[in-house]
Amino acid sequence: MLRIAVLNGPNLNMLGIREPGVYGNESLSAIEAQVKSKGDELGIQVSCFQTNHEGIMIDRIHSAYGSEDGIIINPGAWTHYSYAIRDALSAISVPIVEVHLSNIHKREAFRHVSVVAPIALGQIAGFGASGYLMALDVLVRKLRSESSEE
Ligand code: DQA
Repeated sequence: MLRIAVLNGPNLNMLGIREPGVYGNESLSAIEAQVKSKGDELGIQVSCFQTNHEGIMIDRIHSAYGSEDGIIINPGAWTHYSYAIRDALSAISVPIVEVHLSNIHKREAFRHVSVVAPIALGQIAGFGASGYLMALDVLVRKLRSESSEE
C-alpha cells in the first residue's frame, strides 16, 4: 500500500481562525479528515502532521526516508525562505507536491518566491483545501504509473 505524508508548517494549526478571507473557514483537522477519507478511497495510507517548529519538521521529513512513498507539504511561510526545509526534502529523494491554500503569486511580493518549488514535482496554489485533495490525486497517479513501468 502506498504511504503518503501530508505535512503542514507554521500557523496552519490556526486555519479557520486565521484570516478566513485568505485561508477559508475550515480547520486543519477538518481538512485532514477529508484528506484521510480521500486516501481511503484511493486505497493508500495517509499520515498527517503539523508543527510550528522548523527542526521538528526537518526530523519529520527525514523520518519519511525509507518509510513513505511521497510527501504533500504546505510549508507555510518557510516556503519563502527556509533552505533547511528545502534541503531536508531534497535529501530524502521522495516525490514532493507543494500545496498552498492561497494563490501566493497574486499576494505580497515576498510570497512569490518558493525555495521549495525547484525540488517539487509541482505546486498547487489558490484552490483552498481542495489543493490537498488534488495533490493526493496527482501524487498517487504518478507513483502508480511509475510502479507499473517497473
Ligand atoms: C500559505 C501561504 C504562505 O505565504 C503563508 O505564509 C502561509 C500559508 C498558504 O497555504 O497559502 O502560512 O502557505
